[in-house]
Amino acid sequence: MWNKQKSVVIIFILILLVTGQQNDNQNNFNKKHQHHKKFKVFKNTYSKVYESKEVEQFRFATFVENLKEIDRLNAEVTTAQFDISFFSDFTKEEFLNLFTGAHKPAMSDQDQLQNNNNSNNQNDQSNNQKSSDKSNQNEQKQIEESIPSSWDIRTDGPGLLQPVENQGQCGSCWAFSTSGAVESYYSAKKNITLNLSKQQLVDCVYDHGGCDGGWFNDAFKYIQSVGIVLNATYYPYINKDQTEPCQLSKLPKGTSFYQIQGYKKLENDTSVIKQAIMQNGALSIAVDATYWANYKSGIFTQKEKPQINHAVTLIGWGSDYWLLRNSWGSSWGEQGYIKVTNTGYSGIFPQYTYSPIK
Ligand SMILES: *[C@@H]1O[C@H](CO)[C@@H](O)[C@H](O)[C@H]1NC(C)=O
Ligand SMILES: *[C@@H]1O[C@H](CO)[C@@H](O)[C@H](O)[C@H]1NC(C)=O
Ligand SMILES: *[C@@H]1O[C@H](CO)[C@@H](O)[C@H](O)[C@H]1NC(C)=O
Ligand SMILES: *[C@@H]1O[C@H](CO)[C@@H](O)[C@H](O)[C@H]1NC(C)=O
Ligand SMILES: *[C@@H]1O[C@H](CO)[C@@H](O)[C@H](O)[C@H]1NC(C)=O
Repeated sequence: MWNKQKSVVIIFILILLVTGQQNDNQNNFNKKHQHHKKFKVFKNTYSKVYESKEVEQFRFATFVENLKEIDRLNAEVTTAQFDISFFSDFTKEEFLNLFTGAHKPAMSDQDQLQNNNNSNNQNDQSNNQKSSDKSNQNEQKQIEESIPSSWDIRTDGPGLLQPVENQGQCGSCWAFSTSGAVESYYSAKKNITLNLSKQQLVDCVYDHGGCDGGWFNDAFKYIQSVGIVLNATYYPYINKDQTEPCQLSKLPKGTSFYQIQGYKKLENDTSVIKQAIMQNGALSIAVDATYWANYKSGIFTQKEKPQINHAVTLIGWGSDYWLLRNSWGSSWGEQGYIKVTNTGYSGIFPQYTYSPIK
């Protein structure tokens, strides 16, 4: 009797296990089918062609990992939407190596401030200087109160922004970030839009290997001392390191260059940064793009402490976000732009915000 009861229970449990297993199998089968369907659409959308069956298998597995991250981020970050993008068949490591490229040199912030000493005498500096003087404090307060609750250079100026560009598989974000700020600055002051040569920065700022990454100071100093080709048509972007480095000697005679008088690293202060945007246009800024690959829209935030790996331009703000212009083409994010939260971990580093000076 006792034994019989026991075996009935065991059989019952076995039945439950088998049905559970069958459901799991069915679910796994459905999921896998869904993944294959999505992968097919993805390959079509982004014209992905793989050189072998093995590569395709690896890319499919990586794509499934990206789908998991998309689900996780959509659940965690309720203010933003994530979806399949051009980057969805790259591992996180590949993505960061191939499409970002901000490498902060191992020197102290103090060193960096001194490097930017050339700009210290410039008059642009004046309204960014905080003073302990009482009347100046009042003035500062008035300025802060007069800052609008939202701003977008695309609609509010100053000047015009160039269409979003695509750095491709080259860690040249630093070149796009700095030249983008210079283009915006020029447009703000002269009301003329430029397309400066990013490739020149990639080839000439460092001995070679600008696709391996770079940093703001080096690019701005170069534009200050050598100048940057005014019209990128004469030194076009090829999204890789040239086989031969810097091509300046091969440019046609009379090619025009644009030189800045200096640059400055802004104070880590929200109202200073906002005023600089309203007056001088886009700023160069360091960010953490680790979780940006599949960003689609909305206000991005992350729970992980940010690390610097990418550079973009800062072009505005809203009551609860900063507005950034990226260099991954206009099909990524909000037509090439991203909003990040202005509280908590946004992935931006306002202490690494730079502006050119002319
Ligand atoms: C900046 O440069 C000037 C002269 O070139 C020098 O007197 C001054 O000490 C420098 N300031 C810093 C912070 O390095
Ligand atoms: C800037 O130039 C555009 C045309 O390129 C013109 O419509 C606009 O009025 C100009 N703005 C200023 C402030 O001169
Ligand atoms: C750049 O140069 C090309 C070729 O001369 C010309 O067609 C184009 O209008 C120039 N672009 C700008 C922004 O001046
Ligand atoms: C700037 O010039 C490059 C050529 O290097 C071209 O590919 C790109 O589309 C131009 N960008 C804009 C905004 O006109
Ligand atoms: C920059 O400012 C923010 C906001 O005041 C602050 O939380 C952060 O610690 C500052 N970072 C640095 C490096 O000073």
